Amino acid sequence: MREKIEKLLLEVEQLAAKREQEIEEIRVRLLGKKGSITQLFDEFRNVLPEQKRELGQVLNTLKVSAQNKIEQLRAVLEESMESENPGFDLTKPGDSFELGTRHPISVTRGEILSIFSKFGYEVAEGPEIEDDWHVFGALNFPPEHPARDMQDTFFISDGENPVLLRTHTSSVQVRAMERMPLPIRIVCPGRVFRNEAISARAHCIFHQVEGLYIDKNVSFADLKQAVLLFAREMFGENASIRLRPSYFPFTEPSAEVDVSCNICGGKGCNICKGTGWLEIMGCGMVDPNVLEASGIDSKTYSGFAFGMGIERIAMLKWQVKDLRHYFENDLRFLKQFETVV
Ligand code: DAH
Repeated sequence: MREKIEKLLLEVEQLAAKREQEIEEIRVRLLGKKGSITQLFDEFRNVLPEQKRELGQVLNTLKVSAQNKIEQLRAVLEESMESENPGFDLTKPGDSFELGTRHPISVTRGEILSIFSKFGYEVAEGPEIEDDWHVFGALNFPPEHPARDMQDTFFISDGENPVLLRTHTSSVQVRAMERMPLPIRIVCPGRVFRNEAISARAHCIFHQVEGLYIDKNVSFADLKQAVLLFAREMFGENASIRLRPSYFPFTEPSAEVDVSCNICGGKGCNICKGTGWLEIMGCGMVDPNVLEASGIDSKTYSGFAFGMGIERIAMLKWQVKDLRHYFENDLRFLKQFETVV
């Protein structure tokens, strides 16, 4: 034992280290739980009583000199850092990263999806690069429909079933009807693309959430109730809705949904242009042609669908007047949503 102690004493004297990590390794190797000095203290318990006094003293000397050496190595290292980098303050706390905030479009998307998940809707997603059949053909768009024009749609290839960037998330309805067992109750969030000039009210890329419910005996009253409950969850419990007749190729009948203006409470203000109402989505009963195109028996099943722009809902909720703010990543704009995360 004495030999071991003396060997270690010599070793301790000669210790050297250039980096903080090396010093820590030395400390663990000697004084850590399984360190060689710690082990000697374990062995010391078995030493004969008459040797205890003498061996105890040298063992303690070893421990103290190891501790001193480590401290000394640290001091030397700090000093050399200081002289190599004048003004280097080892005690200064590090710069912390500034926490980011969620983008208002993500926040709104999450809110819409969580409202519908409470009603039992599952989330379904589909590809952004689609074909003509899923974006138009299966949704009952006639071949000469203007949406199929190059002026409105970004085409990637031509031919019988051209490849294109989807112009709406209604394409995910079609994919769901093709593969999901009935009944279907889904919400489909996603990015959509339109060949539009960018302005305060239009963008060539934006986001939509599509909804679809197909079952036996689904009626227009069910649609109205789902939309009303959504409007109340999103815009407050006093929100009311009105439906205006409209036209979409994929629904019959079709309607546009307005929600009572959440700014003036329906009295009329500059946000709702004096009408007391704000348009929030399109909807309707799924056209039997659309059900049949995806192989669903329209005599047994019926359903409703709705589609809304996430940017539009977010603009109404926070009174954002220019759509372009959502895409410019100006932190002064984005940081305002910190508290709503
Ligand atoms: N796809 C429509 C659009 O992009 C929105 C829409 C309207 C979706 C009515 C629907 C619907 O499902 O029933 O403008």
